[in-house]
Amino acid sequence: MATHLSFVLQLAIITSCAAARESQPTIAILRDLGKAAGLFIGSAAGVSHFQNDSQYNLTLGQQFSLVTPENACKWTATEPSNGKFDFTECDFILNVAMTFKQVFRGHNLCWGVHNPSWLQKLAGNKTALIDVLTRHVHTVASRYKGKAYAWDVVNEAVLDNPTSNQTLKTNIWYPAVSNYIDLAFKTAHEADPQAKLFYNDYNSEGLNGKSNAIYEMLKSMIQRGIPVHGVGLQSHFTLGDDFTKMKNPKLGRPAPSYNDMAANIKRLADLGLEVHITELDVSFAGGTGTEQQKLQQQAEVYGNVLKACLSNKMCKNYEVWGYIDKYSWRKSNYEPDLFDSNYKPKPCFDTVAAMLQNKTVV
Ligand code: G3I
Repeated sequence: MATHLSFVLQLAIITSCAAARESQPTIAILRDLGKAAGLFIGSAAGVSHFQNDSQYNLTLGQQFSLVTPENACKWTATEPSNGKFDFTECDFILNVAMTFKQVFRGHNLCWGVHNPSWLQKLAGNKTALIDVLTRHVHTVASRYKGKAYAWDVVNEAVLDNPTSNQTLKTNIWYPAVSNYIDLAFKTAHEADPQAKLFYNDYNSEGLNGKSNAIYEMLKSMIQRGIPVHGVGLQSHFTLGDDFTKMKNPKLGRPAPSYNDMAANIKRLADLGLEVHITELDVSFAGGTGTEQQKLQQQAEVYGNVLKACLSNKMCKNYEVWGYIDKYSWRKSNYEPDLFDSNYKPKPCFDTVAAMLQNKTVV
């Protein structure tokens, strides 16, 4: 597997270098514009797309200065059996990042869902859970020591509707290991003291009960000396304002207003935290009107999120969760990404490029 992947990567790189020589890009280069604006422009990347599609590699390398493995470094990929680690896919994305001089952003070390079945079977077994959590976080963070700019250490731990009695989701870790978040961050920091350690979540980009709970949780962690350095605002959005869409995350949630998002970024930055937009996409699921109108509405959302990020110097990464509609984790007919399925930049791409060019900061 490892040999096969490295061969595929080499081939893809040769192809992309040749293509880059042959055709000078005629479109804006977001990574260059982002650099001038003091911002990483990131994308998630999936291993299988490199194997099946040589153009995937080319556009990823041209346009983005930061890469996050969409699934390659998750627990399912890196520790599929208890104690048996496999870094083939995670290494592959790291190699892509190194080849294209991109920053590597690790995702993720601890999540309550999408875990391998052997791990799920440990639910409720506190001693075993503490052992495997510390071993996993330590082993994975150590392997990428000095190479990962940042890690999403804990992903999506806070309830969608937290109450005064309960903030955290019930999952394999909680309440069995009530301090699992602190434990994961401390362990990651011991393994890689240079990496910036992030808490990453969705539906917490603006001002609402969930983002308030996350703010309080991070403030408490900082006060208690837990090594947390950043917060990821995922930003999986949909057009429209139908909040019933919240019941199905595949459809996305309406974006918050620019003011709410800028205010949330500011309060997190004021805690000393780096802020990353980590998983931006804007689905057509809740949209109405013609295709042109939806493309325009989508561009406005991409623009508002960028404007909010540019409003605070602690917001250092504007990252999409995949850049091309056809490989989106959402249905491709929801057209959530910067490029259409034929690699044509969409109006949202043009808006992002123009805004970076003019550095439209409020
Ligand atoms: O690769 C296998 C394939 O061999 C198999 O035939 C197929 C059958 O279902 O599954 C494929 O794996 C799927 C994988 O995506 C690759 O497509 C998994 O089942 C599926 O669970 C996995 O979903 C990923 C999901 O996280 C769960 O890990 C999505 O791609 C990925 O985009 C999504 O990313 C999350 C972030 O990590 C956290 N924030 C939300 C975001 C979107 O849900």
